[in-house]
Amino acid sequence: MEIFTSKKTLQKRIQQLKDNGKSIGFVPTMGFLHEGHLKLVEESVAENDLTVMSIFVNPLQFGPQEDFHDYPRNHEQDRSLAESAGVDILFMPDVAEMYDQERSFKINVLQRTDQLCGKSRPGHFDGVATILIKLFHIVNPQRVYFGLKDAQQIAVVDSLIQYFDFPIELVAVDTVREQDGLARSSRNVNLTSLERKEAPSLYKALQVGKQRICQGERNIEKVTREIYDYIEKNTSGKIDYIELLRFPELQPLQTIEGKVILAIAVQFSKARLIDNIILNVG
Ligand code: PAJ
Repeated sequence: MEIFTSKKTLQKRIQQLKDNGKSIGFVPTMGFLHEGHLKLVEESVAENDLTVMSIFVNPLQFGPQEDFHDYPRNHEQDRSLAESAGVDILFMPDVAEMYDQERSFKINVLQRTDQLCGKSRPGHFDGVATILIKLFHIVNPQRVYFGLKDAQQIAVVDSLIQYFDFPIELVAVDTVREQDGLARSSRNVNLTSLERKEAPSLYKALQVGKQRICQGERNIEKVTREIYDYIEKNTSGKIDYIELLRFPELQPLQTIEGKVILAIAVQFSKARLIDNIILNVG
C-alpha cells in the first residue's frame, strides 16, 4: 500500500496510474476504521483496478459545539486495517495540507439539507460538500463508495455529482451492523457502557416502525410516535429527530408510500448516533 500526505504528489501518482488505463474506486473516510468502512473497500476492490482511501477528519463539517476534538483517531491501526482490506493508496493529509489557502469560496448546499442532520447540524453538509469537491478533484475516481448509514450524505453526494458534472458513479453500500443491530460507527467508542447497552434500541425502534408500516399503517404521526415512545422507554439518550421522508429527495410525505426513509438521531452524553432504514412501500 502506498501512503501519501501531499495532494500534489498523490495527484501525479494517480495521473500515472490513469495513463496506464487503471480504473479507480475511492472511499473517503474520517478514519478510526471499522467494518462499515471496510465493506466499502471490499466493494471498491471488487469493481476497480485500484482502490484509494482518504482519512481526514474534516474540521469544516463540525459545528463549534461538536466533537471535532473528541473525534476518535488511530492512524497506526487505520493503516494496517486499510492495507489488509486491500486499499492500494492511502491519502492522509493534515488540515494545513487540505486547507492551505486563505478561504475564498463558500459552498452552500441548498437542497436536501433542511431536514434530518442538515437541520440539526447547520453548515455540516456545506463542509462535507467542500471537502468532497476537493477530494474528487484530487483523486479523480471512476467510482465513489458511500454508506447508506449516512443516507442524507448519500442524497447530497448524489446531487453534488450531478450538479458539478463529475464523471463519477456513486455506489451506495448497505449499513454494516454489530450482532445486536447497532450500526457500526467510529463514534460508538464514545458511548458509556450503559449507553452501549441501550444503543441497539435505535435499530429495534426502526424495526418497530417497519413492522407497523408492513402491517398497513400509513399515518406518519402514528408510526413516528410509536418509535419515539420506544426510544424514550429504552434509552437515556435525547431524541434529536425521527422522520419519515421520500428518498432520495428527502421531501415530506402526505402518506407513507413509495421509496421512503425512516431516520432517527439520538444524542447520548458524548456521542450522537444516527440510523435509518429505507423501505419500498407499495
Ligand atoms: P465517516 O463517518 O468516516 O464515514 C466514511 C464512510 O463510511 C461514509 O460513506 C459512511 O456512510 C460509511 N459508513 C460509516 N459507517 C458505516 C456502516 N456502519 N455501514 C456502512 N457504511 C458506513 O462520512 C464521513 O466519514 C465524512 O462525512 C466524509 C464523507 C469522509 C467527508 O468528510
